[in-house]
Amino acid sequence: MADTPLTLGFASFLAPGRGVLLALCDDKLRLGPQTRKALGKAADRFRRAAAANDFTGKSGSALDIVAPAGLKVARLIVIGTGPAKDRAPLDFVKLGGGAMGRIPGGATAATLLAELPGGALTPEQAADIALGMRLRAYSFERYKTKRKEDEEPKAAKTVTVAVADPDAARRAFAPRRAVADGVDLARDLVNEPANVLYPVEFARRTGALKALGVAVEVLDEKTMKKLGMNALLGVGQGSRHDSRLVVMRWNGGKRGEPPVAFVGKGVCFDTGGISIKPAANMEDMKGDMAGAACVVGLMHALAARKARVNAVGAIGLVENMPDGNAQRPGDIVKSMSGQTIEIINTDAEGRLVLADVLWYVAGRFKPKFMVNLATLTGAIIVALGHEHAGLFANDDKLADQLAKAAQATGEKVWRMPLAPEYDKMIDSKFADVKNTGGRWGGAITAAQFLQRFVQKGVPWAHLDIAGTGMGPPATDLNKSWGSGYGVRLLDRLVADGYEDGGR
Ligand code: BES
Ligand code: MN
Ligand code: ZN
Repeated sequence: MADTPLTLGFASFLAPGRGVLLALCDDKLRLGPQTRKALGKAADRFRRAAAANDFTGKSGSALDIVAPAGLKVARLIVIGTGPAKDRAPLDFVKLGGGAMGRIPGGATAATLLAELPGGALTPEQAADIALGMRLRAYSFERYKTKRKEDEEPKAAKTVTVAVADPDAARRAFAPRRAVADGVDLARDLVNEPANVLYPVEFARRTGALKALGVAVEVLDEKTMKKLGMNALLGVGQGSRHDSRLVVMRWNGGKRGEPPVAFVGKGVCFDTGGISIKPAANMEDMKGDMAGAACVVGLMHALAARKARVNAVGAIGLVENMPDGNAQRPGDIVKSMSGQTIEIINTDAEGRLVLADVLWYVAGRFKPKFMVNLATLTGAIIVALGHEHAGLFANDDKLADQLAKAAQATGEKVWRMPLAPEYDKMIDSKFADVKNTGGRWGGAITAAQFLQRFVQKGVPWAHLDIAGTGMGPPATDLNKSWGSGYGVRLLDRLVADGYEDGGR
């Protein structure tokens, strides 16, 4: 089945036509003036239905009135927003997600009156609602050819957000649409199975960014060998699929201005290699490229909204398989940095991939800062569950900016420590460093490993997204296994800190 398309647009307040009508009320059941006008006599019906249903308009609740007398629409759904108060932008995004979730799957047309009792929403607020609707509407149906008996067929939808000034709302929505498209792209990549999305195919798909003006370079194994990327190549050497490194560049900033850089772990499938994983839940390891997917989604977002920034995205794409040619525990590889690494556990492969990509990006681009994303450790899930990504940083300013962007977007981070005592845990008997630090503090020793491959003086942050990038609990903004976590967070980081004037 094809993914059900959503057409989202803006119009001015007017008498609603057919389909589903969505309206907003507060906890006193108050409606805005345009909403009262649109409902006409149905406003009275709404009040009686509310009383009959004990609907009080508290935040998150909704009242569904089928075939309301006096209106042409099939359904009137009034969504409670709780007490009137100052709302943050994120509240409107969540409101949009919640509203989208109330529209029945079979409905083909819906109109949301973007108005609170106090009056029409601003263009920005209406655009935030529309963003929430987009984020909620995503589902991954590509491989479903059948429907269950009692399942309603999902219809293509046209959703209209009614506002005071449609042109202004459209202008406000344009950058948000770019971001939503980036999130959906990342989700698609994470949800794809590894027999479809292996490194060469992943690299090929990044080619689509060229149409947006992104320069895309794909480095093959021969080129990486010449560069000395033996840490990355060692991970992929047991796979029938070749490894790739993709470098994406968006130059929307000043000419010659150093870029900001994003690096992603792209392990298209992680069996663990010779240190093979147990069978339970191993299928989840098709998502071990969520960091890379986020970087691609972010580059899409930045280019599509023409962000005034120079940005580099680099992703290391490999498959970690056991095989006669696979890397062994005890093997020692020389990384691009020159440091030698003793492989203790072939399942600690993500850090090996990132070691070479981080070194390469810092050396080639001299970025203002570097943020990497990786589904790096099970230990970060033990520590933080699926709610926060682990944030490790060598730079307080960058960490604070990420925390601020997390607040604004709801893509949460929690700062974790780095310290010499942890670093000692990865000293090796035979080489410069070993790729695991033992049982305790597993997310931290993984971060310490990465830090050894970040040149001094480069502000750097590592986001361990093992818990947030795949399989987080469903929310009003995401029902998908591949969450697209990080695209909105890093888009916000760029917009807040590194664009003149922001957006
Ligand atoms: N990709 C895994 C981490 C992971 C686990 C992501 C569960 C998402 C869900 C990573 O490559 C890995 O296997 N890490 C090991 C490291 C250990 C061998 C030091 C882990 O966390 O167990
Ligand atoms: Mn692993
Ligand atoms: Zn992995």
